[in-house]
Amino acid sequence: MPAIVLVGAQWGDEGKGKATDVLGSRVEAVVKFNGGNNAGHTVVVGDEKYALHLLPSGILTAGVTPVIGNGVVIDPSVLFQEIEGLTARGVDCSKLLVSASAHLIAPYHRTVDRVTERFLGVRRIGTTGRGIGPAYADKVNRIGLRVQDLFDEKILAQKVEGALETRNQLLVKVYNRRAITVDEIVDELLSYADRLRPMVCDTGLELTRMLDAGKTVLYEGGQATMLDIDHGTYPFVTSSNATAGGACTGSGTPPNRIDRIVGVAKAYITRVGEGPFPTELLDDVGEGLRRAGGEFGTTTGRPRRTGWYDALIARYASRVNGLTDLVLTKLDVLTGYERIPVCTAYEVDGVKHTEIPLTQTDFHHAVPVYEEFEGWTEDISGAREFSDLPKAAQDYVLALEELSGVRISAVGVGPDRDQIVVRTDLLEG
Ligand code: GDP
Ligand code: IMO
Ligand code: MG
Repeated sequence: MPAIVLVGAQWGDEGKGKATDVLGSRVEAVVKFNGGNNAGHTVVVGDEKYALHLLPSGILTAGVTPVIGNGVVIDPSVLFQEIEGLTARGVDCSKLLVSASAHLIAPYHRTVDRVTERFLGVRRIGTTGRGIGPAYADKVNRIGLRVQDLFDEKILAQKVEGALETRNQLLVKVYNRRAITVDEIVDELLSYADRLRPMVCDTGLELTRMLDAGKTVLYEGGQATMLDIDHGTYPFVTSSNATAGGACTGSGTPPNRIDRIVGVAKAYITRVGEGPFPTELLDDVGEGLRRAGGEFGTTTGRPRRTGWYDALIARYASRVNGLTDLVLTKLDVLTGYERIPVCTAYEVDGVKHTEIPLTQTDFHHAVPVYEEFEGWTEDISGAREFSDLPKAAQDYVLALEELSGVRISAVGVGPDRDQIVVRTDLLEG
């Protein structure tokens, strides 16, 4: 099973990092194909807790080749901070490969991200403020800076000058900020060039060679289906393709090489930032889920909004990504609830919907229709086989499988590497 794509099936933070980590040394390379340091993956290994942002989670497994693909936007200061932090903790980062075509986040992208949000006021997106949107905007606008530009000082200066021409007008005249000089940007970016050079290659070519040699490559998505620029709740989305198609465009791997597409979903659902969220719980129950699940952002520390599992979103994620498997995480967090509601339909202005509504306006007005399932009180964190789970927990998983239209191949019962119930092997089954 050589090429396997792993994506978020909800609004992010489903436990993708842990799911990647669980596959460990059974994969030879882990590729990040979209987003940047807006991602936050917490991986727990025994007493050690790691928070990864720009580096793929596979870096924690010795021997795995971590790859940052062309679809990623790289903030070089963050890249080296993260490498230094991990190296100091004994993690080997020497095998990291970085695409020459990945775009760079420059300091002015961060500035523009933050001031834009401030000016949007109530219409803000609630971004992570990392400069992700402005860096992708420059890419699409064809005024972006790429990793390879760091190795040609003249070209770099020309490109920075071009990018700053309009940016400075905006910063000074609209946002009342100081103009940024070409030299300050070029000097900062060039200071990373020598350290970056040994990692840079044609990552698409390297990945094709690995696949040709029969190696197993995991494409690890950042963000999630409902945050995808095309398929998510636009404009309350991130600026990249977080769905399975993004794994191909963001890495240079053709679609016909992909063998398996794994979605990751929590046994309930969360969202950080603004935007519609039909099953959101704004009461004490929501607060209880936030506490029980430790639902605070890995990147920004913001409290995550919480709600019940939404089967329409799961079905949508299954369809848009072509999911072959679902990893259901955080089932343990639901322990102790007498009844567990699951959203099986929406009502919009008196009309029942069993698919995601056509328009954002309708999605904003969607009122969830719930089916309730029996809860359980037993501690399930030690379960390793499906049969170890109490009958009600098994029934809940089987109900979600049926409602989501995709087989649930693994169930998370705690944050640690080994706290997982595997029903179908993600690489072999
Ligand atoms: P990611 O962005 O998709 O990688 O997810 P995050 O790391 O942002 O958030 C998931 C959180 O849930 C992390 O703190 C994980 O350690 C934790 N986690 C993952 N799987 C499980 C699970 O099955 N049970 C519990 N209790 N925590 C989990
Ligand atoms: P992982 O990979 C959850 C959200 C932000 C905001 C919107 C746009 O850990 O699942 P951006 O900074 O990307 O322009 O913000 O997207 N967002 C995430 N939410 N998990 C993430 O990543 C996210 N990355 C971005 O909160 O609503
Ligand atoms: Mg996260």
